[in-house]
Amino acid sequence: MNIKTNIKHLELALPIYNASGAWCTTEKELHDIAKSKSAAVMFKSMTVKPREGNPEPRLRITDSFSINSMGLPNRGVDYYCKIVDMFAQYQKPLFASIAGFAENEFYDLFERVNDKSFDAIEVNLSCPNVSGKSVFAYNPKISVRILKRLRKRTNKILGVKLPPFNEREEIRNMAEGFVSIGVDFATLINSYPLGCAIDIKKEIMTIKPNMGIGGLGGPSLKAISLAQVVLFHHFSDGKLAIIGVGGVNKGSDIYEYILAGASAVGVGTALIHEGPKIFKRLENELVHMLKEKRVENIKEKIGKLKFME
Ligand code: DHB
Repeated sequence: MNIKTNIKHLELALPIYNASGAWCTTEKELHDIAKSKSAAVMFKSMTVKPREGNPEPRLRITDSFSINSMGLPNRGVDYYCKIVDMFAQYQKPLFASIAGFAENEFYDLFERVNDKSFDAIEVNLSCPNVSGKSVFAYNPKISVRILKRLRKRTNKILGVKLPPFNEREEIRNMAEGFVSIGVDFATLINSYPLGCAIDIKKEIMTIKPNMGIGGLGGPSLKAISLAQVVLFHHFSDGKLAIIGVGGVNKGSDIYEYILAGASAVGVGTALIHEGPKIFKRLENELVHMLKEKRVENIKEKIGKLKFME
């Protein structure tokens, strides 16, 4: 059985790796991912300067969802550029994730990581947790402009991380825009930007920053994320590789994302909850499911979801 997959010319040994933000902020965490069964090492979204992030508590995980308002805690782009070469020994694709607060910062961050041994660069246009800043991806003109300039500057694999959209036409515009400029992949989706969880006993929000409102992830996100994957796959005519993120916690979740049109999945909330050993479990569950379904090669199933007549 073959569970290898591709993001354009980049080969992944299996269709599963860490979603940015999950277990990938420190050197130690990155080594943990590299040593695990994760197919790639995705780095935490990096900013121009190091950041402490928002005050704690800033993450709440329950069985059905997560709420986070981390506020982009990270060591800063220089740190990640300094340590990235260390990870070459693992022989897995290395993904940088860049997060600017202004359009120009994306270009600066990009120059820095583009020079280093990252194999792929994910442009995070969807961080929901920085007070007073809007989500870049909700401005399609700026989003496409940023990716267009970056595309001209690199032959590395180039992708974009997007938030959920509310309308099919928005997705059509984004998908067509990104295909036309040669973006390689879209990671779908970042957390739903406005979620909250209340502690009913104490009658208080369960996280502190931003009035207790942060990005919603975990199992509750899957229904939203799958629909985004289906529509991006449809409107891009299969020309944009898709990484499905949102509520991946078992082998069947991965299979659903593949049918919907994803080439691979990212694991976020469940990785934070279970730790990097999750990748082996997910691989086993996926392989078991493929055997049951007599699927020889997972690539045959990408986007093969059926629709009722
Ligand atoms: C954070 C959250 C995100 O969803 C993201 O894309 C980047 C950063 C955060 O709060 O750290």
